[in-house]
Amino acid sequence: MSLKEKLAQKIPQLREEIKTLVKDHGEKVLSEATVRQAYGGMRGIKCMVWETSLLDPIEGIRFRGYSIPELRQKLPKARGGEEPLPEGIFWLLLTGELPSSKEVKEVTGEWHKREEVPQNTWKILKTLPTDMHPMTQFSIAILSLQPTSEFAKKYNEGIPKTEYWDPMYEDVMNLLAKLPAIAAYIYRRTYKDGKRIRPVKRLDWGANFAHMMGIDNPEYYELMRLYLVLHCDHEGGNVSAHTTHLVGSALSDAFYALSAGMNGLAGPLHGLANQEVLRWIQNLMQKLGGRVPTKEELSKALWDTLNKGQVIPGYGHAVLRRTDPRYTAQREFALKHMPEDQLFKLVSLIYETAPDILKEHGKAKNPWPNVDAHSGVLQWHYGVREYDFYTVLFGVSRSMGVLAQLIWDRALGLAIERPKSVTTEWIKQEVGKM
Ligand SMILES: CC(C)(COP(=O)(O)OP(=O)(O)OC[C@H]1O[C@@H](n2cnc3c(N)ncnc32)[C@H](O)[C@@H]1OP(=O)(O)O)[C@@H](O)C(=O)NCCC(=O)NCCS
Repeated sequence: MSLKEKLAQKIPQLREEIKTLVKDHGEKVLSEATVRQAYGGMRGIKCMVWETSLLDPIEGIRFRGYSIPELRQKLPKARGGEEPLPEGIFWLLLTGELPSSKEVKEVTGEWHKREEVPQNTWKILKTLPTDMHPMTQFSIAILSLQPTSEFAKKYNEGIPKTEYWDPMYEDVMNLLAKLPAIAAYIYRRTYKDGKRIRPVKRLDWGANFAHMMGIDNPEYYELMRLYLVLHCDHEGGNVSAHTTHLVGSALSDAFYALSAGMNGLAGPLHGLANQEVLRWIQNLMQKLGGRVPTKEELSKALWDTLNKGQVIPGYGHAVLRRTDPRYTAQREFALKHMPEDQLFKLVSLIYETAPDILKEHGKAKNPWPNVDAHSGVLQWHYGVREYDFYTVLFGVSRSMGVLAQLIWDRALGLAIERPKSVTTEWIKQEVGKM
């Protein structure tokens, strides 16, 4: 059964379950909002549905119920490889089922069929200054594909609501198929010779992405596969996920929604943090004449950062309260493939030092590293040293999660978002009555 057929089979079942759930329990309370939450980024308020993953504050992310260590074991691998293939996690996110190797190969084939990027998008990219941030270029390129939207076309033709998911699926598959080529070209035009490298049919999605960036190292292929799996989804409330979902809820198509989500990912408190980590590390080493600091020098630098009122990039999380398992998976990769790398040693030293300092500092609710604390150093090791590009890598991966959910949004007919806002004056009056 193809991915689309499998999805078509699952949709009516969940639709029915939700209908009954809302009919029988529609008025039950999931969450209440406090004044602090209204001013504090709505932290912890349970008021949206996200089927593809769920974040536990202690254990970290589970994709359709599976933890990262489980998925590194259970998802199909490339021949001779040890890391899971991203195509497999996309299948899982969309259907809730672990795919077979054959099913994963079908997704690879399907994405190859759809990978050709329209000339118009290449043309638009060529007009952009090469010193424009790669995330800006990425978002523009995604938006430039909007005229190809099947969903927008079918919507204008008046298809019934129950069928919205079908053209949305087509848009999502078309987008995912093209993102690696687009991202790789942005890399090449911004930092290399500006020539596009053609995709290779025998390579899987992750390896092909690496190839089109110009890095044909089997170890980097493995890193890319792992990286694309690890960053794909982190439930629904984070900025990139929520933005994609919010914009999509207006029945804007996948191109509008994803481009908006990527603009959110470009923020320094979200996806951009991975480049901030490396910038912070490089600045520190530069100040020390290029050498790795001692523990004392590092402690001082961490305190200096905090005392200047800045955050330690790569540490803390809005929901997590332990070391991020995505950090741990990347650390395991580094221990296996590059244990002697100087920057990796420094990242390890920060891991030994920063949590105690953050605890003593007493502000961050979570003193442990998140996914971004490790990803840059791995890229650096394999020669991807242009850290402005790191968030684009994150973006290609994150697209799988937010777009899988967007298909489900349309399949379940989730409503346009419209929470109620209030003014400070209104809150003052209201608390006065309590
Ligand atoms: C991720 C992050 C944005 C979560 O924000 P949050 O939910 O508001 O986090 P907290 O509730 O723990 O924040 C409480 C306080 O601790 C501070 N804090 C949180 N993480 C910190 C860090 N890594 N370094 C220094 N201070 C930190 C916050 O700035 C906040 O200070 P304030 O009260 O003066 O505003 C935050 O931890 C952060 O800025 N981390 C660094 C950037 C980063 O790694 N982002 C990638 C996330 S995947």
